[in-house]
Amino acid sequence: MRAGLRLRLLLLLGSLLLVAFVPLFFAVATYTSLTLQKLRESHARSLGRTIAGHVATVGLGRSSEELMPLVRSQLGAEGLEAIGVYGTDGAALVRVGEPSAVDALPRSARPNKEGIADVTTSHGRALAVLVPRGPGAVVAIVRTDDDASHTAPLLRLLALYTALVALALLTATYFALTRLIVRPLDGLAHSAERVASGARHLAVPKTAVRELSELGQSLNTMTARLLSEEDKLRAKVDEVEHATQKLRETQEQLVRSERLASVGRLAAGLAHEIGNPIAALMGLEDLLLAGGLEPDMERDFLQRMRRETERIHRILRDLLAFARPSTAGVDSRQPGDVEAAVHDTAALVMPHPALHGVDLALDVHGDLPRVTLSREQLVQVLLNLVLNAADAAGSGGHIRIEASRSAQGVELCVSDDGPGVAEIVRERLFEPFVTTKETGKGTGLGLAVCRGLVEAAGGTIELDLEHSRGARFVVELPDARVTASDAPLG
Ligand SMILES: Nc1ncnc2c1ncn2[C@@H]1O[C@H](COP(=O)(O)OP(=O)(O)O)[C@@H](O)[C@H]1O
Ligand SMILES: [Mg+2]
Repeated sequence: MRAGLRLRLLLLLGSLLLVAFVPLFFAVATYTSLTLQKLRESHARSLGRTIAGHVATVGLGRSSEELMPLVRSQLGAEGLEAIGVYGTDGAALVRVGEPSAVDALPRSARPNKEGIADVTTSHGRALAVLVPRGPGAVVAIVRTDDDASHTAPLLRLLALYTALVALALLTATYFALTRLIVRPLDGLAHSAERVASGARHLAVPKTAVRELSELGQSLNTMTARLLSEEDKLRAKVDEVEHATQKLRETQEQLVRSERLASVGRLAAGLAHEIGNPIAALMGLEDLLLAGGLEPDMERDFLQRMRRETERIHRILRDLLAFARPSTAGVDSRQPGDVEAAVHDTAALVMPHPALHGVDLALDVHGDLPRVTLSREQLVQVLLNLVLNAADAAGSGGHIRIEASRSAQGVELCVSDDGPGVAEIVRERLFEPFVTTKETGKGTGLGLAVCRGLVEAAGGTIELDLEHSRGARFVVELPDARVTASDAPLG
């Protein structure tokens, strides 16, 4: 977990105050105890002098027996532990006081010089103060070792004071900084969070700090810009959705109109295909009705009428096959044998005038599965393709029928070495009445019928666009067994 700004501030301030106040405390404490020490020493010195002066004034010249009670009466005051009085020769006259302090008294003292020395008694540290008086000298042992007991409460007080000041400073600074920085920042963070969860406006908390208020303003501007960008984006998305919807509708419309157009083309083609022979028929009928014709001519007219009627009949038959491709065959539900159908086709077309001088090659791989198209329908498709190929290749041309196993079932190919499919009809090759052949030779229904039959059987038929020499039509037909198992025909 990461520490918050408050905790960090607190730690920083705490360590700053520690760095500032601990040395200060020690400096003050050391200074205080040194001053106290000096004070005590000067005190001890003046005490020693006073005692010595007193003893010298009242006692010099008296015997040591007379001095004893006088000196003893001075003991006990202000840490005075022992007193020694020395004569002119420096020898001790009287030495009274605490036994250990008495031991610390010098055996002899030169009376001419004032001095001070550190000594140790059973109580601890002490000062021996020598004061010359008259012909002799007085030495007083004054305790100084109880410094600690005097300074300790003072130091404790100092420590307490320092700690209190430090704490007060810490609290004050902490609250000031929190108020100035942390709270406005928290406010900004909450505001930003609200914006993130959907609010439309960033509420900037009031603050006296210039930088923070500037930050708030910047955030506010940024939020406003982001929100307006978002609005724009949303508008764009709506627009795109709208456009997509429109596109879809247009596409559907296009498909519909395309369908209508093919129906229209179908009708137009039909009108043209049937209209021409009917006009011819009517003309011939008029001539016959007018009468007065030679019997030969009459016969010729009737034969021509017969041909025109046959043409109409052929067109209607093809059209019927195109309209109801799945029922056009005799036994349409019977799975067809491709190999047999190929041979049937070859036998049927061989005597046809279109095949004169044309080489027809068959390439059928044995063991082909039966397909979803009946044998008769297969022949119908193959006939259309082979006759087209013969028309294109002409005398001296070559046609090849291939049948082989494919992933789905059987692939049937009819190729020729003619000029290939004309550019203008390629797009609409499988639509009815699309033809490049002159009237009477082609109806433009052949490939449309083929596609109707093949697609009804679940297969595909297309022109191989990769093929460069002549034309090549590829028919894919599903394996009847596979299809029968998942969706029965009919
Ligand atoms: N093997 C082929 N080579 C060149 N063009 C072809 C071939 N097969 C079909 N076509 C073109 O496709 C058109 C449409 O053929 P089809 O639908 O069978 O009608 P039709 O044979 O009555 O013209 C033909 O008129 C011809 O232009
Ligand atoms: Mg044809």
